[in-house]
Amino acid sequence: MKLVTIFILIGAVTAFDVIREAFRIIDDSQDPCENFYRHACPIGSDRDLLIATAYDDLLFRIKAKSVNAIWNNLEIEKTLLRIPSRELTTTNNFIGGLFLAQCEDKHVGREDLVNFLKQIEHYYFQFSGSNCEFDECLSALASDHNCTRASEKLKATLTKLDFTFFDLSEFWKEYFRAAKQGLDGVNALLDGESKQGVSKVQHLIERMQKKLISWVNETDWAINNGAEEAIIEETLQVHHYDNYADSMRKNLQFLMKLEQDYLKCLRDTKREHDFETFCVLMSIFASIEKYPDLTFFTFYNAFNAHPQLSFSQLFYDMAENVGESAGVLGSVGYIAGHELSHTLIENANAPQLIPYFSNESMQCIQNQYQKTCDHFEEESCGASDNQIDENGADMLGLQLAYSLFEEEYQGRMNEEYIRIQNFEEYRSITMEQLFFYSTAFVACSGKSQKQRLGDGHSPLNVRVNAVFQHPGFRKAFNCPANSTMVESFNEQCIIFGKGAPEMRR
Ligand SMILES: *[C@@H]1O[C@H](CO)[C@@H](O)[C@H](O)[C@H]1NC(C)=O
Ligand SMILES: *[C@@H]1O[C@H](CO)[C@@H](O)[C@H](O)[C@H]1NC(C)=O
Ligand SMILES: *[C@@H]1O[C@H](CO)[C@@H](O)[C@H](O)[C@H]1NC(C)=O
Ligand SMILES: *[C@@H]1O[C@H](CO)[C@@H](O)[C@H](O)[C@H]1NC(C)=O
Repeated sequence: MKLVTIFILIGAVTAFDVIREAFRIIDDSQDPCENFYRHACPIGSDRDLLIATAYDDLLFRIKAKSVNAIWNNLEIEKTLLRIPSRELTTTNNFIGGLFLAQCEDKHVGREDLVNFLKQIEHYYFQFSGSNCEFDECLSALASDHNCTRASEKLKATLTKLDFTFFDLSEFWKEYFRAAKQGLDGVNALLDGESKQGVSKVQHLIERMQKKLISWVNETDWAINNGAEEAIIEETLQVHHYDNYADSMRKNLQFLMKLEQDYLKCLRDTKREHDFETFCVLMSIFASIEKYPDLTFFTFYNAFNAHPQLSFSQLFYDMAENVGESAGVLGSVGYIAGHELSHTLIENANAPQLIPYFSNESMQCIQNQYQKTCDHFEEESCGASDNQIDENGADMLGLQLAYSLFEEEYQGRMNEEYIRIQNFEEYRSITMEQLFFYSTAFVACSGKSQKQRLGDGHSPLNVRVNAVFQHPGFRKAFNCPANSTMVESFNEQCIIFGKGAPEMRR
């Protein structure tokens, strides 16, 4: 009874702690040392990604803040969504057809037809005034008495951007969605949502950079190749992207330019024919080389566009509201470590940023993923070359997060985090266990895992169980040597730092 009262009180005063909530799904009938991932994240436990699903309400709230915002009520987008794209063929056929219909319509005068063609010159070919060139000068077509011939000629001229309607509109619906989502997210941030989380993520990355630099500085293969300074330099370049004002400006500019072009085109071509679709096309063509700013977003993801790291709003919320630092480090810390690591992990046979990488480290990482796959395969998995970057970033990322955890919790790692009731028994979860649970929760999917073709990421169950080759895991759960988790572990892969294996030439 006492426990229940305390829980309700805490629930009433604190914000949503997604990690604490996640403990409700763990499966005590599955031994953590046998298959940790499925112990923490049982099959069928949640629809897809546990955390993303848990955040449905937050995302709804963020979206609700800006339903009336101008970017969520664009005329051009309403039309775009209305276009029955499956019925239309290609954009040049549509424009040719529209020309033909007007040309044959007795109510449309030559001047109107010239005006129509001028719109195409202006938006499609980006000419202003009368400065068109060669076959991109279209207005003479309005004087051709054979409308079919003129329309054929027009179609043939418009091949520069010959898209099927379907491809074009699907692609642009996505662009609109991305730009609007970025704006919704920045809007929520400006309203104070997850503001502290942003600076916490920033601080986490700075701490990890320092840690990583100290490791690189004592990595023999880097020093022996005279590469340590270059690697440190790459590490120092990395920064957390938090210029939201810039993101907002770019996305507003992107959307408002489209809207303005659309409205202007409509005003200049007021007719009964299908000018709304025509004007959507013209506005899109006028912005064809532009794209939304994708650095800020609310979907469940993070990425490294070296040197910029970007994180979903959901991770900021977690950094702000997950109650224990061990839980933040195991979840957001692991993700931040992964993204930072992307800058330094290389495929030794095809390095990008760093011209050399320890081949042995790479083999070590891949061997571990293969072995984890051999033990825990669900539908399919396997360590192939296109997974080196992601596998390595997972492993180094977890090592970074754990080392911050170790520093922060010296002497307190085995303190109780929560007590969990399993039928009649109570069991303590320690801070160190919380760290590892949090890693499994951020990657938790209730669906049976398979390797998606061409995806550089390993299946989620393999990603999590493989990185737990870290000695901290065995210690935290007291796993016996003959347990499946420990049997699936190779020697810990040390990628940077003392004991990192030499690169052989
Ligand atoms: C108009 O042009 C089309 C295509 O060039 C041609 O097939 C057709 O015979 C022409 N019609 C007349 C009446 O000349
Ligand atoms: C790397 O180590 C050298 C000496 O071992 C030291 O002088 C240097 O300051 C260190 N650099 C960093 C970035 O820690
Ligand atoms: C890395 O090791 C593999 C296997 O031992 C070898 O085939 C490959 O050439 C090595 N690559 C480099 C860059 O040394
Ligand atoms: C592991 O070894 C212990 C004792 O050495 C034994 O009691 C236990 O049954 C073994 N467990 C498995 C899963 O083989």
